[in-house]
Parts: sequence; structure tokens; C-alpha cells
Amino acid sequence: MKKKKIAALDLDQIPDGTMQAVRVGRRNLLMVRQGHQVYALRNICAHQGARISDGVLTCTRRGGHVGEYVEEKAGRIIRCPWHNWEYDAVDGSALHDPKHTRVASYQTVVEDGKVWVMV
Ligand code: FES
Repeated sequence: MKKKKIAALDLDQIPDGTMQAVRVGRRNLLMVRQGHQVYALRNICAHQGARISDGVLTCTRRGGHVGEYVEEKAGRIIRCPWHNWEYDAVDGSALHDPKHTRVASYQTVVEDGKVWVMV
């Protein structure tokens, strides 16, 4: 099926380092901005259907030495508000099972100050 390119919002409506829920056609999406890159995900958790836009935008951590944590993927991890499943904004994959669990992600492009989504 051929995809449509639909304007989701103006780039200046989503400050850098934040996320925002938008409606694009019949879809509820979550937009996540990192600099000039904007990611688009389906705004429904794969677990029990919460709006992930009601969660927080954060990072993940991996252990180093005892008592040491290293932050990774800052500003691109969405944590669901209901049971804390976490998703990577880049591809919608769930951190606990990235090969099998995800929310849909959509290609985006920024042109002329607008964020467009391919749906
Ligand atoms: S509904 Fe999102 S983690 Fe349960």
C-alpha cells in the first residue's frame, strides 16, 4: 500500500527534548524531538493500551562498576505510565524484548518548518 505524507505539526510546536501527542488522520501518534530529528510512534502501549504520551521521556541505564550507572539513549526512551514498559523512540522497540515487542513507528521528515509523517 502506498504511504501518504501528512503534516503532523510545526517543528516549533515541539521543543527540543520533549514529546507530544498528535492526531494524524485517524491515528493517535506520539512525536519525540531530538534536535532536528523527530520520531513518530503509535501512541498506544503494546502491553495494555495506555497512552504512552502520558508517561515520561527519559533514558536507559546500564551498569558499570558496582554503584556506577551509565546513562544511554538520553531523551529517546518513553516510559509507559501504567507499568513502566519502556520504548526506544527511534524504532518503537521495547527495551525488555526489542525483537518481539514494539509499538509501530513511522518515518518522518522535516521540511519548511513542518514535521511530516508517512502513514
Ligand atoms: S500499559 Fe504500558 S506498560 Fe502496561
